Amino acid sequence: MKKKIAILPGDGIGREIASGAAAALEAVGKRFGHEFELEYADIGGAAIDSHGTPLPESTLALAKNSDAILLGAVGGLKWDSLPSAERPERGLLAIRKELGLFANLRPIPSFKTLVQSSPLKPEIAGNVNMLIVRELTGGLYFGKPSERRGDNNEVVVDTLQYTRAEIERIVVKAFEFAKARDGRLTSVDKANVLESSRMWREIVNEKAADYPDVTVDHMYVDAAAMKLISNPGQFDVIVTENLFGDILSDEASMITGSLGMLPSASLSESGLGLYEPVHGSAPDIAGQNKANPLAMILSTALMLKYSLDMRLEGESIERAVQSVLNDGYCTPDLQMEGSTVVGTDKMIELVIER
Ligand code: NAI
Ligand code: MG
Repeated sequence: MKKKIAILPGDGIGREIASGAAAALEAVGKRFGHEFELEYADIGGAAIDSHGTPLPESTLALAKNSDAILLGAVGGLKWDSLPSAERPERGLLAIRKELGLFANLRPIPSFKTLVQSSPLKPEIAGNVNMLIVRELTGGLYFGKPSERRGDNNEVVVDTLQYTRAEIERIVVKAFEFAKARDGRLTSVDKANVLESSRMWREIVNEKAADYPDVTVDHMYVDAAAMKLISNPGQFDVIVTENLFGDILSDEASMITGSLGMLPSASLSESGLGLYEPVHGSAPDIAGQNKANPLAMILSTALMLKYSLDMRLEGESIERAVQSVLNDGYCTPDLQMEGSTVVGTDKMIELVIER
């Protein structure tokens, strides 16, 4: 098969780990006889420097004309003093919005070998296999107005808005995933306080009728934050709105020990998908060959499985990653006792070998 993949490395460690994605695709292409045409474009701070905007038209056009998109991470100290409407992170919000990437999926498996690097007790961390489904293009991050008001700008306003249709499509997506997995869906909201959450809950209950095989429960976001630590093994699929999902998924990511292990997928209604690690551009370690490339490599595996109909190919990458970990290699973020600590380049090489 021939596929065109857009690679948007972005900033900081995004640039270092993007080479891991490219190397993985090349290896898979060779082994399975596919041709991946990789085309690169700037986004985020790199795009501000080269094009004066965090999401250039040319980058968006490339994304739209590709079979799938891989993204590293955006942001960095250099651009931190810009007003929020001009920052690198805007590029990310804009591409999600422009491509209609409303469903953000974050699978959080327990990597048996990594249990010791989790801050949770091994018997708790070892029992985790969840999927967080986060609404990505609505809610507080996109609501207008978002501004300062008053004579001295002493009042700030952000707006949390959702339409029924926006909630329905993400809820249906989550039910579909729950049906294909363990059949348990936890909807997370704050229905005791927020009107948006009350509508969210209504819709989940309505849609539940179409999925008799899926068990549904509702949980307030504060309780969910607690349960993710005390009993994360209870979750199969979690569905929640944008802000809650942002926070809970970062929290949940620590269960496995490092942000550097977790991939994500963002899907549109038409099936176009953007794949990126959960972590950011990690300015504190950028350029030091310390970044863990596995989240990026596992994002590439998700891309093969979800967008390109290449399940075996994606699984071959996941097995390669597992095998490197089993063989006792890790990057500095993982802090595994008795393991050989290697840098970004070497970790990529070890995965490709396998
Ligand atoms: P971050 O995820 O970049 O870093 C948090 C901590 O985790 C840092 O100590 C970092 O060194 C470590 N870390 C992250 N990824 C790692 C990896 N692959 N290997 C080893 N260690 C890793 O989040 P932070 O520091 O809050 O944000 C840094 C910049 O990234 C900011 O400009 C922020 O806006 C941006 N950001 C971008 C995201 C994206 O592009 N999707 C997501 C989150 C933040
Ligand atoms: Mg986040």
